[in-house]
Amino acid sequence: MSSFDARRVRADTPALARIINGQRITYLDSGATSLPPRAVIEAMSRYYELRHANVHRSVFQTASEATATYEGARESVAHFINAPGGAGEVVFTKNTTESFNLLAKSWGEANLSEGDVVLLSEMEHHANIVPWFMLRERTGIEVRFIPVTDDFRLDLSSVDELMEDVKLVSVTAMSNVLGTINPVKELAATAHAHGALIAVDGAQSVAHDVTDVADLDIDFFAFSAHKMLGPTGIGVFWTRAEILDAMPPFLGGGGMIADVRLDGYSCAGGPTRFEAGTPPIAEAAGLGAAVRYLEGLGMANVAEHERALTGDALTRLGLEFEDRVRVIGPADTTHRGGVISLDVEGVHPHDVAQVLDQFGVCVRPGHHCAKPLMRRFSLPATVRASYGPYSLVRDTDVLIEGLRHAIEMFA
Ligand SMILES: Cc1ncc(COP(=O)(O)O)c(C=O)c1O
Repeated sequence: MSSFDARRVRADTPALARIINGQRITYLDSGATSLPPRAVIEAMSRYYELRHANVHRSVFQTASEATATYEGARESVAHFINAPGGAGEVVFTKNTTESFNLLAKSWGEANLSEGDVVLLSEMEHHANIVPWFMLRERTGIEVRFIPVTDDFRLDLSSVDELMEDVKLVSVTAMSNVLGTINPVKELAATAHAHGALIAVDGAQSVAHDVTDVADLDIDFFAFSAHKMLGPTGIGVFWTRAEILDAMPPFLGGGGMIADVRLDGYSCAGGPTRFEAGTPPIAEAAGLGAAVRYLEGLGMANVAEHERALTGDALTRLGLEFEDRVRVIGPADTTHRGGVISLDVEGVHPHDVAQVLDQFGVCVRPGHHCAKPLMRRFSLPATVRASYGPYSLVRDTDVLIEGLRHAIEMFA
């Protein structure tokens, strides 16, 4: 019996006390952004109230404390994802999107040229598509896609053919639309067998299950703090030390240099080479607290809790609505997480979301920044409900009641 208690997580999360349209909030948009516990908010307040100073520069006490907080967050993140080389492999960025731009611009420009292939999948978020198209414009690389099957999985039947000339595979660990969890470890083995590296988009996976970049044997990992109970404004780019050391800088300015002269500059080593300017210090304090909070919950417990919620929701949606509500994603919890996209027959996703708002239910209608995937399934949009560690079966109850009303209203 696990000691995980979602009600305790709820009690720790002030945003869940909000009343919306006369109803207690039912937050089902953790896939877009998650709600921080008090520990995260307090860590950020502590920085602003007690040790607001810049990092890596001054020697006075509060500045040393700010630096310790900032670097402590790097240590916490390294531990959380089991970075084999420790904190020296963890770069703070603005978000997952910036992490992929860093990868494509810095590593991509230095290592890829015309004729080389980057292999993505059809279920990628735009954050893991557009930077590669931009690199293609600059270098003439080819961008290729692993197709998605009719049952919402990666079609790996021709992966060996797809791997020809591939230098980098870049895929999401979990789809933000389908909920599909991809076989990252197997893909890493395939990529390496073909002499390619592999980057993984952890935006949707990192807050919902154990992450072990060493065990997965991957080469790059990207995620955002705000999807893992942390603040907006900070994300992570991880790669192995030997790769990071060989990557050219991304942005230039203060903090990332070893020396600047009138005739040129030299770069600092380690992650700071990629952290030009004053970094997100309060946000790092919040991210460190989020990581420690999640570790306290136990990521295996979080995964088990969300799998149970998802299984219950999939069963009940099927029983309640049959064909009126189609789940755009795997039908059971085998290799799928707590992101449930719905297509409600005859009702536009924005209308569904608006009716749900009347019940205090927060869901996301739209294309979810995955337009190629929406085209694959001939859908302009879906309405997406997504769970977090604070979610309860009661949230699904309210969702189903709201969906019932939406269908009645637009029938
Ligand atoms: C799978 C995936 N990748 C990347 C992103 C981009 O994250 P951010 O907007 O924090 O950069 C998201 C956000 O929804 C996502 O779900």
